[in-house]
Amino acid sequence: DMGGHDTYMHKEIHEQAEAVDRVLRGRIDDRFSTVHLGGLNLDARDARAVRRVKILGCGTSYHAGQIGAQMIEELARIPADAEPASEFRYRNAVVDPDTLYIAVSQSGETYDVLAAVQELKRKGARVLGIVNVVGSAIAREADGGMYVHAGPEVCVVSTKCFTNTCVAFALLALHLGRTRDLSVRDGKRIIEGLRKLPAQIAEMLEQEEDVKKLAAQYADARSMLFIGRVRGYPVAREASLKLKEVSYIHAEAYPASELKHGPLALIEPALPTVAIVPDDDLLEKNRAAMEEIKARSGQILAVAHREQEKADHTIVVPKNEDELDPILMGIPLQLLAYHTALALGRDIDKPRNLAKSVTVE
Ligand code: F6R
Repeated sequence: DMGGHDTYMHKEIHEQAEAVDRVLRGRIDDRFSTVHLGGLNLDARDARAVRRVKILGCGTSYHAGQIGAQMIEELARIPADAEPASEFRYRNAVVDPDTLYIAVSQSGETYDVLAAVQELKRKGARVLGIVNVVGSAIAREADGGMYVHAGPEVCVVSTKCFTNTCVAFALLALHLGRTRDLSVRDGKRIIEGLRKLPAQIAEMLEQEEDVKKLAAQYADARSMLFIGRVRGYPVAREASLKLKEVSYIHAEAYPASELKHGPLALIEPALPTVAIVPDDDLLEKNRAAMEEIKARSGQILAVAHREQEKADHTIVVPKNEDELDPILMGIPLQLLAYHTALALGRDIDKPRNLAKSVTVE
C-alpha cells in the first residue's frame, strides 16, 4: 500500500520525520543527558575499554557508517572509521580485541556483512549490529546492537533507513561520549538537536517543489560531481550513489579539497557540481572550492544552511548542531535523485540490475 504516493521511494522519503521520531522514542535520558540503549550488551566498563571503532556495511549502509564514524570520533573521541564489509573480509584484516566492531545493515541479510560478522566472532571480537529488520541474520549473529525502527522499506533504493541509521549512530556516539569525556552540557546540546530533527525534516520536505524544478534542470546531465568536506563528504557520497542508482546518471563524489589533485580537469559547463556546504568551521574552505569551479564555468547547486552566492542555486537546509548536520543535508538530495529519475521515466522502486537484499557473494 503506497498510501497515496506514486512510488514507495516517495512514500518512504516522506515517512522520515515519523521514522526518526521512532528511533528516538524511549531512549533519551534527560536526567543524565545521555541515552539508554538496552540491547547493546555493553556496560559502562566495556564501553570505556573500547580503543577503536570499526564500522562495516555495504552501499548506503556503509555511507551511514562513515557518518557514524565521524559522530563517534567527535562526540566520544574514540578513533573510528568505516569500511565496506566486503573489502574487510577479503583483505584478511587484523582483528583487534580492543576494537568495537559494528555491522550496519538495513535488511540484516547482506551476505558480505554477515560473513564479516561471522569471521570477527570466530576470532573473538565483540560485534554490534545496527539493523532495521528485527530478527534478521545479522541481528541474531551480533553480540548486541540497536534496531533503527525505520519500518519496512520496500523501494530497492534506501532512504528512510539511511536517515534512521545515521540517527542511531548519533545515539550511540552520545552514549559512548557520556561514558567518557562528553560533558553534560554537550550531551544536552545533542539531545536538543536530536529532538528538533523530526520537525526539521518535515520543514525540509516542504521544499519538494523547488527541488523538483532543480531536478528538471539537471536531468539532461550525462554526469554529475558531488563534493563535500569532512561532515559533508559522506553526504556527497551517498547523494552520488542515490542519483546513479535511481536515475542512471553517472555521478562521482569527491572530497572538495581533492579537486585540485585531478577532477578540476573535468570541470566545464556540461558537468554540474552539487556542493555540500554546511555552516560550520569549514564554510570558507568550501566557498573557495566553489570559486575554483565557477572560475572554470562549472554550474553549482549548493546544499547549505544559507544562500551561497558562489552557487547557481542553493537548497537551504535547516541548521542543527554541527555534529548532526549530515542527517538533514542528505534529505534534499534524496528528493533530487527521485525527481531526476521521475523526469527521466525510470523504474524508481526497482532500478535495473539491483536487488533489495544481496544475499550472495
Ligand atoms: C542503496 C542500497 C544498497 C544497500 C546495500 C546494503 O540505496 O539500497 O546500496 O544499501 O545493498 O544493504 P543492507 O543495508 O540491507 O545491508
